[in-house]
Amino acid sequence: METSSGKKFKRTTITSALPYANGPIHIGHLAGVYIPADIYARYLRSRGEEVIFIGGSDEHGVPITIKARNEGTSPQQVVDKYHEIIKKSFEELGISFDIYSRTSLPIHHETASAFFRKLYEDGKLIEKVTQQYYDEKAGQFLADRYIVGTCPHCGFEKAYGDQCEKCGTSLNATDLIEPRSALSGSKPVLKDTKHWFLPLDQYEAWLREWILEGHKDDWKTNVYGQCKSWIDLGLQPRAVTRDLEWGVKVPIEGAEGKVLYVWFDAPIGYISATRHWAQLTGGDWEKWWKSPDTRLIHFIGKDNIVFHCIIFPAMLKAEGSYILPDNVPANEFLNLEGDKISTSRNWAVWLHEYLEDFPGKQDVLRYVLCANAPETKDNDFTWKDFQARNNNELLAILGNFVNRTVVLTHKYFSGQVPPATHLMPDDEALVAELASFPQRIASSIDNFRFREALNEMMNLARLGNKYLTDNEPWKKWPAETDRVATVLNLSLQICANLAILAEPFLPFTSGRLFRILNLQPLRWASAGNAYLLSAGHLLNQPEFLFSKIEDEQIQKQLDKLEAARKANLMKAPAAPAKQDIDYEAFARMDIRIGTILEAEKVPKTKKLLRLKVDTGIDTRTIVSGIAEYYNPEEIVGRQVCVLVNLAPRNIKGIESRGMILMAEDRDGTLRFVSPEAHINNGSEVK
Ligand code: MF3
Ligand code: ZN
Repeated sequence: METSSGKKFKRTTITSALPYANGPIHIGHLAGVYIPADIYARYLRSRGEEVIFIGGSDEHGVPITIKARNEGTSPQQVVDKYHEIIKKSFEELGISFDIYSRTSLPIHHETASAFFRKLYEDGKLIEKVTQQYYDEKAGQFLADRYIVGTCPHCGFEKAYGDQCEKCGTSLNATDLIEPRSALSGSKPVLKDTKHWFLPLDQYEAWLREWILEGHKDDWKTNVYGQCKSWIDLGLQPRAVTRDLEWGVKVPIEGAEGKVLYVWFDAPIGYISATRHWAQLTGGDWEKWWKSPDTRLIHFIGKDNIVFHCIIFPAMLKAEGSYILPDNVPANEFLNLEGDKISTSRNWAVWLHEYLEDFPGKQDVLRYVLCANAPETKDNDFTWKDFQARNNNELLAILGNFVNRTVVLTHKYFSGQVPPATHLMPDDEALVAELASFPQRIASSIDNFRFREALNEMMNLARLGNKYLTDNEPWKKWPAETDRVATVLNLSLQICANLAILAEPFLPFTSGRLFRILNLQPLRWASAGNAYLLSAGHLLNQPEFLFSKIEDEQIQKQLDKLEAARKANLMKAPAAPAKQDIDYEAFARMDIRIGTILEAEKVPKTKKLLRLKVDTGIDTRTIVSGIAEYYNPEEIVGRQVCVLVNLAPRNIKGIESRGMILMAEDRDGTLRFVSPEAHINNGSEVK
């Protein structure tokens, strides 16, 4: 193949970021990395290119050890659990990895160790002794995430050793005021420790030339820009080892209790995964990583840019025998309903849950996430948009066109492709336009513009729909049999083209479409012509490609998010204490026990109840904003606390005298504060 920058390659190695195996996959991962990578892999295969598509779980790193501690299990159990969930959900979504491996396998440990040892023996690493926090009680060095303390910038008391989550500042562990160990709570001490560093500063000139000059025109501007600002800031040596138990052991003497930094071992995971694939298939792994004829493409999210564009290439360069990435088409982030996706806040659409809630609708998710992919800026996923794109685009355009065409063919021609006898100028124009689609879509995909490519594919369905509507075969039947035959023939040819061109984006739909057309799957090279189905070819029965998504299904998803939002509120810490007051200030409030005698909703309001309360002093009317939490019937007879000397207020035309005391939960829920046993009305609360 020849790339847009004119370079020639024989084959392509596609990698997709290895997801951390400490949680399931969500739509942000999919839109940013796996859907574009899969479209690209499927497209190249359809073009007959030699491709390998690599995936796997990233199973090391501190967050996994923290999760294991919190859940009282081992890191291995954590990664075993999520690796299975992730792998299965990718399979079900049709992500067509040639291998989905994992970094806890021996083959990865061997590959990463050998890589490190080579750099070490070739003198490419620097050895340095630094001081690091050590927990004497727990007897171990502390990773940044295991150190908690007060943020020097905002005073937040639970900042981590690498970042304050309140103000977002990135920190060094030694910046923290009053550091504590998250393991034992004790005060950590600084202690000498030896580590190995990759001297990135020595690669600065080379990176400048390779990226800033060599890839100015073919890398995405967001990627290029991030690389430029990193390089312009000046590169420093980076530690590639850590004092930790969980990970790939540092394979040299005098490094007991140390492992490779997760960002050192994880990208080597792409290579290990390829070796794993070779073991399983008998293939040759080296040509995918060492042949200059191979084009290496990394699909990642924007938070991974520096690792894939600067650090990993510097590692590969230092090792010396590997090719470098030709492109790194990183995406920006996807938000969900206007809010940042967050695993810890459960603000996400989880792939494994989607697959359960929307069985058979893998392509709908693939479609929506590609159509909304955050290719050049952050983007938002909303359930309403998801519904609209299914109902108004997939169903109304693509599904409707195919269905009309196939149903009419069955109705008029017993399911046999009718002949196109005489082409009118409009038909000729259609055939000519059809011919231009494969190249247009291909060029968008070649430039990693998947949204544009998908939209072009849909334009072919739009074209078909318009052609059918303009020609109205249902009105011409049976008077103009030949005309109807021609129109349906050409419409069917478009269907067959759609089956080919939709495959990278919508593989399940493409499969169904080929089945309906009774065709063996065809590849890209066949697309663009109007002779894919010969006259007389018998179609299969129509089946629906898409079905309507109803409001209730969408509401169910919105309710799920609402529940997550509430659950987060409930976890929020208590509001800080108010300023001190003296006893007199408190004593001025006259709080009594009263009994609710009557309750009714205030008309035309959602929140208000009008209550009649026996305060022991009098019987009075109080308007209270509790209608969302209590039904009028259930509260009559109930004893409550009443602030009786609050100045009367007019609420919705009712004079309200006093206030019922309520406790407000974190999510805003209100509950009565009631005496624990019956007590006389009018008793004072003090
Ligand atoms: N696990 C990392 C993340 O989710 C990505 C690792 S990509 C690799 O951000 F290159 F290191 F494998
Ligand atoms: Zn802070």
